[in-house]
Amino acid sequence: MSFITKGLTGLRDWVDDRFPLMTLWNDHMGAYYAPKNFNFWYYFGVLSLVVLVIQIVTGIWLVMNYKPDATLAFASVEYIMRDVNWGWLIRYMHSTGASFFFIVVYMHMFRGLLYGSFKQPRELIWILGMFIYLSLMAEAFFGYLLPWGQMSFWGAQVITSLFGAVPVVGEQLAELIRGDYVISDITLNRFFSFHVIALPFAIAGLVVLHIIALHEVGSNNPDGVEIKKLKDKDGKPLDGIPFHPYYTVKDSVGVVVFLMFFASVVFFAPEMGGYFLEANNFIPADPMKTPLHIAPVWYFTPFYSILRANTYPFFGVDAKLWGVIFMGLGTMVFFLLPWLDRSPVKSIRYRGGIYKSALAIFVVAFVVLGYLGILPPTPGRTLTAQIFTVVYFLFFALMPLYTKWDKTKPVPERVTH
Ligand code: HEM
Repeated sequence: MSFITKGLTGLRDWVDDRFPLMTLWNDHMGAYYAPKNFNFWYYFGVLSLVVLVIQIVTGIWLVMNYKPDATLAFASVEYIMRDVNWGWLIRYMHSTGASFFFIVVYMHMFRGLLYGSFKQPRELIWILGMFIYLSLMAEAFFGYLLPWGQMSFWGAQVITSLFGAVPVVGEQLAELIRGDYVISDITLNRFFSFHVIALPFAIAGLVVLHIIALHEVGSNNPDGVEIKKLKDKDGKPLDGIPFHPYYTVKDSVGVVVFLMFFASVVFFAPEMGGYFLEANNFIPADPMKTPLHIAPVWYFTPFYSILRANTYPFFGVDAKLWGVIFMGLGTMVFFLLPWLDRSPVKSIRYRGGIYKSALAIFVVAFVVLGYLGILPPTPGRTLTAQIFTVVYFLFFALMPLYTKWDKTKPVPERVTH
């Protein structure tokens, strides 16, 4: 044993006598058995972690030069872009990172729908995931105000005023969030505080809980077979392999490929034709001039479309409040998936045609609503959004029925390759 190895082993043992270092390592890496049939869709958990780290690290560096003050914020971002060494790279990594965060998280959630990862015994992993998703939406919303551009200002104005639609306490609620009657320096300060302190802590904490919950029950896999059911004489799952080194190596390849995509956007198309950074946000916020068309960033647009699709007052409740209710339901309804899905099988591989078709139609509805949410409304677009909003909700509302009727195939004993 070389002098260095001896020193490092000694240090490890010293720490291990005082802290459960090796126990933690073995429980979560070296002796954590993951199914051996993970596929493409299983990269997105680790990729979400990678993007979380990118966002936190670039965020720390941005804050070194950013000024959370309505008179200075816009100029401080321009200063970062033009004068701070590598400031443009840090800012573009952070703004591109926001969109990539949602891309990888949507893929990660879609994997859950493909393989029934939300089903028993993984309900809590899914619920914690949903809390992460909601926190991520809040994080992105608060962050978008910080550059203090036209879209930052007017987007925040539109969304905060939606709270005004809540009966009785609506106006007070909107004022509480803004800290003022309109979006102002006070709003900027509190959004800054939430964006850089409260939500990052909440997200990081939730991710730790998410992974602890995952490692308690073990990962699902593309066959939806519980690998803990079949063990060898040493108690190791027959269809499992230690996470380290097998998946640490495999995931590293995924991370490198992901970083290639990420870098190509950061370097060659950081605005992504206005989808990642909107043109209007390169104009300083002007409370006296409303932009012609206000649209949120792409990851919010399916829900924005649902909001705008509500144009009729019902039961004495005005259309705006219905919009807010359905937009809220559209996000929260995912929490119920573990109880809406009555299928005896988890993976799409062994489900029948009904679930496969329902999922495909749901994806189309989500994408169409997302696309319509970017565009200014016309009567035709509003009607299309109304139709797809109904389709969106039917996917969930009818799920207990069609997952029960669906003819499933027998699930194999062991995972397949
Ligand atoms: C910052 C965001 C997130 C991070 C860092 C994260 C991280 C992870 C990791 C590392 C895994 C294990 C690897 C894998 O199965 O891909 C995992 C599994 C899982 N995550 Fe997440 N996750 C995030 C958000 C979410 C969200 C929003 C949901 C759903 C609402 C979710 C639901 C799940 C489920 C159900 C599993 C178990 C999947 C299975 O075993 O098949 N996660 N997550």
